Amino acid sequence: MEDARPKIDMKSKTLDIHELPKIQEICEQIIREAGELLREGFRSDIRIETKSNANDWVTQYDKQCELLLVERLTAAFPTHGIVGEEGSNLRPESDLQWYIDPIDGTTNFAHGLAPFCISMALYQQTTPLIGMIYEPIGEELFFARNGAGAYVTNRLVTNKRLQVSSETNLGRSLLITGFPYDRRDATNNNYREITLMLDHAQGVRRIGSAALDLCYVAAGRAEAYWEQFLNSWDIAAGILIAAEAGATLSMLDGSPMFIQERVSLLAANPTIHSQVLAHFQTLS
Ligand code: IPD
Ligand code: CA
Ligand code: CA
Repeated sequence: MEDARPKIDMKSKTLDIHELPKIQEICEQIIREAGELLREGFRSDIRIETKSNANDWVTQYDKQCELLLVERLTAAFPTHGIVGEEGSNLRPESDLQWYIDPIDGTTNFAHGLAPFCISMALYQQTTPLIGMIYEPIGEELFFARNGAGAYVTNRLVTNKRLQVSSETNLGRSLLITGFPYDRRDATNNNYREITLMLDHAQGVRRIGSAALDLCYVAAGRAEAYWEQFLNSWDIAAGILIAAEAGATLSMLDGSPMFIQERVSLLAANPTIHSQVLAHFQTLS
């Protein structure tokens, strides 16, 4: 049966594309300012509260950073909507929505471990327009505009175009994954998938930030990333960056990607994507 849920539409866009470079510039100013806040907070006196369960943490910096992003975005784009991990849901009726994750990788941040990042994405309904992800400790900025490619700027390179790796051998591939916070109680907790892939890949990593995991696939530093039950703010920017770098993206069962609560996705270079998918299909 045809799936009625809205698919991520990577190509069509109706906003005047000439507006996007300016929006991107403002987004970069905002994300770099938020990065300064997180650098100040890193390894400082962190106050931890729990959210959905004992593993799901939030710090004062997640909240402060979301507040900063919301204030700056609202000042710059008063008609745009904002969906944020720490509870922001402004102007839901707007055609243009920002998905923001003030700290993706809160567990790392709270333990004084890098990397972690800020993730911001602008969507027009189901079409991603801009994706931007900033890792403030390594000072690495990943960004993409729909149809205009994905790029990275860090201490070594400026605006370097991203391209997924060309590796075709799964046995030489580095994979990245992650686990849901309710992994101890969930029946579907990724333990079977990771055990299987440990047998077939050169290596498997759990880095701790879904947004950066997608950027690392985009940059060809890893061949594939999969994870179950992610939220829109975890992946909204990263999927555009990965797609613009040539990654194949799908749900974990191979069906087309769409943004919703608890997305299970696979992003990989095109050859490795089909190989990983074929292994996952042996599990069902
Ligand atoms: C989490 C990170 C982590 C992933 C979790 C996410 P948070 O986001 O992206 O890598 O495994 O599923 O919830 O809580 O650090 O913003
Ligand atoms: Ca997140
Ligand atoms: Ca977060």
